[in-house]
Amino acid sequence: MTPPSISIVGTGYVGLCTAVVFASKGYKVITSEQDHEKAASINEGIPPFFEPGLEDLLQRVLKENNLRCVLTSEEAILNTDVTFITVGTPNKPDGSIDLQYIERSAQEIGEALKKKETYHLLAVKSTVVPGTTENIVKATIEKYSGKRCGINFGLCVNPEFLREGNALHDTLHPDRIIIGEHDKKSGDFFEAIYNSFYRAEMPSIIRTTLPAAELIKYANNIFLATKISFINQVANICEKIPGADVTVIAKAIGLDKRIGPLFLNAGLGYGGSCLPKDVKAIINFSKSLGYNPIIFNAVEEVNKAQPIITIELCKTILKNLPGKQIAILGLAFKPNTDDMREAISIRIINNLLNEGAKIVAYDPAAMDNAREVFGNDIQYANSAIQCLKNADCCILTTEWEEFKKLTPEDFIQHMKNPTIIDGRRIYDPKQFSQKLKFKAIGLGTLT
Ligand SMILES: NC(=O)c1ccc[n+]([C@@H]2O[C@H](COP(=O)([O-])OP(=O)(O)OC[C@H]3O[C@@H](n4cnc5c(N)ncnc54)[C@H](O)[C@@H]3O)[C@@H](O)[C@H]2O)c1
Repeated sequence: MTPPSISIVGTGYVGLCTAVVFASKGYKVITSEQDHEKAASINEGIPPFFEPGLEDLLQRVLKENNLRCVLTSEEAILNTDVTFITVGTPNKPDGSIDLQYIERSAQEIGEALKKKETYHLLAVKSTVVPGTTENIVKATIEKYSGKRCGINFGLCVNPEFLREGNALHDTLHPDRIIIGEHDKKSGDFFEAIYNSFYRAEMPSIIRTTLPAAELIKYANNIFLATKISFINQVANICEKIPGADVTVIAKAIGLDKRIGPLFLNAGLGYGGSCLPKDVKAIINFSKSLGYNPIIFNAVEEVNKAQPIITIELCKTILKNLPGKQIAILGLAFKPNTDDMREAISIRIINNLLNEGAKIVAYDPAAMDNAREVFGNDIQYANSAIQCLKNADCCILTTEWEEFKKLTPEDFIQHMKNPTIIDGRRIYDPKQFSQKLKFKAIGLGTLT
């Protein structure tokens, strides 16, 4: 098939990564972004966030004239054949999904389609609760365009599974593609686009209904969150058993093919732009159906409590926190990103500040975002070593490669009171505990 031209409404994390990957394969891509500063930065070749490899690829596709970012959905839609909707879907204060960006983008798309004669295919990539695409996206577009879904335009749900920090790789090599389709023509067209994109490397494809595709994304994320909360509970039990180490237990159970090794790293809990919000949204959605999702509730409860356990440990080690200097290594919610949305570091730092501790923090990528979160409430270091200087305790919150290279001597030489709480299990307990005070999530200390 002739490659269709592609538009993307909402040029945030998912939108921009999807756009540059399509553009890198020669597709003509127009993205729309309501935030003028973001749009200008993208057109200058500067991604508004850090993602490995993204800046180089963005600059390449701009030079090849395969990508541009515009300010209105109308301009993007009228000049393309296929549109992905990738606007944000945050939570409302009660935890339910906030669909304001979805509603507004659907209205804009409807108004644009009113002016278009030819068939247009739309795909919702944003994570939305079941029923949203049928009841809100389709209904709004039909209302504002005066056109019929399945006849004048096609509609699919195509959930996104990319991981921040690996976004380009994941977009080029997904485990599978899910297509929820309103009608067969929409699904066939969308499958053909992916067939011509991936060719011989076409991943498994699952075609289903719109609400099933919407639920697949939540089921996927809640399962990952469940694995994390599960292993964190095992870790908390290990800490009460001298000689037990959660990393050994995780390795052992991970070798069972029915369980698998991934997402079994015990730590301070999950954060980020997806898991916390999606768990909240699906709990709220289940309750709106009159169903109490006991497992999902527990997953969230464990995750809320996990950082508090570390604060209590810190208090026990330092006796009292007022005036004590704590070094925080890692601010991003995970390595290889500068994203601090729902990062566990925020909860740890705010709790320590409330207890009267002084905070010095360092992250290889997230310092600018951290300044927006904490302002002058904490001090910012220029390096890991500077962060450790004169500290009474260090809490390792993000497992950046750079931090894995630190040796016991680095902590001993620079800290006032060489003490580590390894919140992500990156250090060897034998090596570290011989030389300094060492505590770690899920490590039952031998007395
Ligand atoms: N970030 C991830 O790793 C990830 C992974 C999988 C799925 N998702 C889902 O993808 C969706 C997008 O997530 P994100 O992290 O990219 O969000 P984001 O907040 O980074 O980006 C959304 C962008 O859309 C723009 N926008 C909103 N309304 C618009 C409109 N009407 N026209 C033009 N631009 C508009 C915003 O200004 C923003 O730049 C969410 O539903 C999220 O749950 C995210």
